Amino acid sequence: MCGIVGYIGDREVSPILLNGLEKLEYRGYDSAGVAVYNNTGMHVVKSKGRLSVLSELLHGGTDLPGTVGIGHTRWATHGAPSDINSHPQVSDGGKFAVVHNGIIENYLYLKNHLIKRGIHFVSDTDTEVVAQMLEYYHQGDVLDTILKVASKVEGSYALGIICEEHPDTIYAVRKDSPLIIGKGESENFIASDIPAILMHTRDIYRMNDGEVAVLSKNEVEFYNHDKEKIEKVTERIEWDVDAAEKGGYEHFMMKEMFEQPEAIRKTISPRIHDGKIVLDDIALTVEKIKDIDKIFIVACGTAYHVGVVGKYAFEKILRLPVEVDVASEFRYRDPIITDKSLVIIISQSGETADTLAALREAKKHGAYVLSIVNVVGSTIANESDDVLYTWAGPEIAVASTKAYSTQLAMMYMIVLYMAEQMQAVSTEELNQYIADLESLPDKVAQCLEDKETIQYFASKHFNAQDMYFIGRNVDYAASLEASLKLKEISYIHSEAYTGGELKHGPISLIEDNTLVIAICTYQRLFDKMMSNVKEVKARGAVVLGILTEDKVGVQTEADHAFFVPKIADFMLPSLSIIPLQLFAYYVASQKGCDIDKPRNLAKSVTVE
Ligand code: M6R
Repeated sequence: MCGIVGYIGDREVSPILLNGLEKLEYRGYDSAGVAVYNNTGMHVVKSKGRLSVLSELLHGGTDLPGTVGIGHTRWATHGAPSDINSHPQVSDGGKFAVVHNGIIENYLYLKNHLIKRGIHFVSDTDTEVVAQMLEYYHQGDVLDTILKVASKVEGSYALGIICEEHPDTIYAVRKDSPLIIGKGESENFIASDIPAILMHTRDIYRMNDGEVAVLSKNEVEFYNHDKEKIEKVTERIEWDVDAAEKGGYEHFMMKEMFEQPEAIRKTISPRIHDGKIVLDDIALTVEKIKDIDKIFIVACGTAYHVGVVGKYAFEKILRLPVEVDVASEFRYRDPIITDKSLVIIISQSGETADTLAALREAKKHGAYVLSIVNVVGSTIANESDDVLYTWAGPEIAVASTKAYSTQLAMMYMIVLYMAEQMQAVSTEELNQYIADLESLPDKVAQCLEDKETIQYFASKHFNAQDMYFIGRNVDYAASLEASLKLKEISYIHSEAYTGGELKHGPISLIEDNTLVIAICTYQRLFDKMMSNVKEVKARGAVVLGILTEDKVGVQTEADHAFFVPKIADFMLPSLSIIPLQLFAYYVASQKGCDIDKPRNLAKSVTVE
C-alpha cells in the first residue's frame, strides 16, 4: 500500500526521500512523488510508474536541491494511477502540499462543499480534498488549521504536510493508519514504516490516533486534538539494518523462506520454560479459558490459512467448536458472538483493514480478542485484549512465508497452552506435543535443505497453465496456502481442493499432463489420499506427492515425491508448506516474474 517519508535537516533532501521510498517499495505502489522546499519556493515532482521513473526525472535527486521535503509512493484507491493523481497533492493556491496514506471517506461531500466556494480541483483523489481544506481554513496558525481539518475528515489517514509559509517545518497527523517520527541529530524524519528511515536513525516516536507532530530540524513537538502539548518517549529500534535488506539473496522471499527456522525459534523459545508453555504476555485467565464456549479465528489471505490449520488443531485437542472466517465476510455476516466467545485475530502487519474491522465487530459483541501479530505497536495489536507477537522480523516480500510459519507456531502454542489449562490432554501427550513443537525449527531447516529437488521439478513444470493442490484435513489447509503462494507470485492459475471433493466437480478439469500436487502427510487419511491420487492419474495427471519420510522406499501412487519429517499431525502444515513455497518461488523465477512485488498486490491491505 502507500508509503510516506519526510525529512528536515541540513542534508540534501531529495536523495534521502528517494532512498526512503525505495525501502517502502515492498508495500506495493503504482506512482511516486516528492515535494521539496528550496530558496525558490516549493517544488513538486511526481509520476506514474516505478520509483526509477521519478528518480530519472530528478537525476537521482541532484536536480531538486533543498533540505526539507516529503515523499510518497501511491497505491491507487480514488482515481486511477496517473501523474496528476500521484502525491504530493497541492492546494489551489499552492500553499500546502500533502502526502496521505488511507482513505478520506467523506471526501465527495467535502469536495462538493469546496467546489461551491470556488475551489478548483485537478485530481480525482480523496487526498486533494485535504490539501484544499488546509488552504481554505488556514488563518495563519498551521496547527490550528490541521486540527480543524482533522475534525472534519472521516476515514483513515497518515498525513505528511508542508506549508509554504513555514519552510522550516513538517507537520504530521494520523488516524487509523501507521505513522512514525524518526529523531536524529539536527535532523528529523517522518515515515509510514521503519525501514524507510532506519539507515538514518534508530530512535523513533510512534504516533497515536489524533496526535499532530510538528517537526523542525532540531525539535519534534506533539499535540493532542485539543492542542495540548504531549510528552512522548522515543523507542530504540534494535533490528539490524540488514534485516530489512536482502542479505545476499536474490529476492526477499528467498531470504525470508530461509529465515523461517530462526523466526520460529525466536517465536517459541522464549515461551517454553522447563518443558512448559508460558504465555506471560497475555492476561487471559484460566477461569476465562474454562468459560469459553466457542472460538472464532478471523484473518485474511495467508493468515486465514493459518486459521484453517488452527480449526483442525483446536477441535482435535480441545474439543471446542471453532469457526474460521475470512475477515471481509466475518465483519458483515452477523456472527453469533457472545461474551463466552474467544476471537483469535491473525495478522502479520496488524493493519489489514478487514481484519481490524472484524476485531472491532468482535469486541462490540463482548468477545475476548486475542491477536497474533508480527508488527509491534500496530493498530490490531493495540486494540486487542491480548496480543501474542510473532518474532518474524520485518517481512518485505509481498508473498508471506516466515509470517505464516511463525503464525502457525504461535497458534500451536495457544492450543497447547489452553489444553494444559483445560486439562484436555494427558501430561504425557502434552509433553510429546511440546517436544514436537521444539523440534520444529530443525525440521523446517531440514525441508529447506533439499531445495534443488524442488528447483528441478519447477523447471519441468513452469510452463503449466493450471495446477491443482489436494489434501485432506490439515493437508487441505496446507493446500490452500500452497495454491495461494503459487498463483500470487507465478500468475499460474491454481486451485486447492480436499481430496474427497474432487469427484464432485473439479476432476472434470484433469486431463493429460495436468500437474496435481497431493499433500499426503496426514497419516489417518493417507490411504484415502492414495485413492484420490489414483483417480487423477487415471485421467492423465502427473502427481507430485508430499509425503512423510516414513514413506521413503514405500510404493505409493505418486509419480514424484518430496519427503518431510514426521511430527504431530496438526503441526504437519509447517513442514509440508516448505517445498511448496520453494516450488512457487522457482516457478515464478523461471517465468521471470517480479517475485517480491507481484502485480496488483500490496503487502499491507489497509483499505477495504
Ligand atoms: O498483514 P496481514 O497478515 O493481515 O495480511 C493478510 C493478507 O493480506 C496476506 O497474508 C496476503 O494474503 C499475502 N500476500 C499472502 O502471501
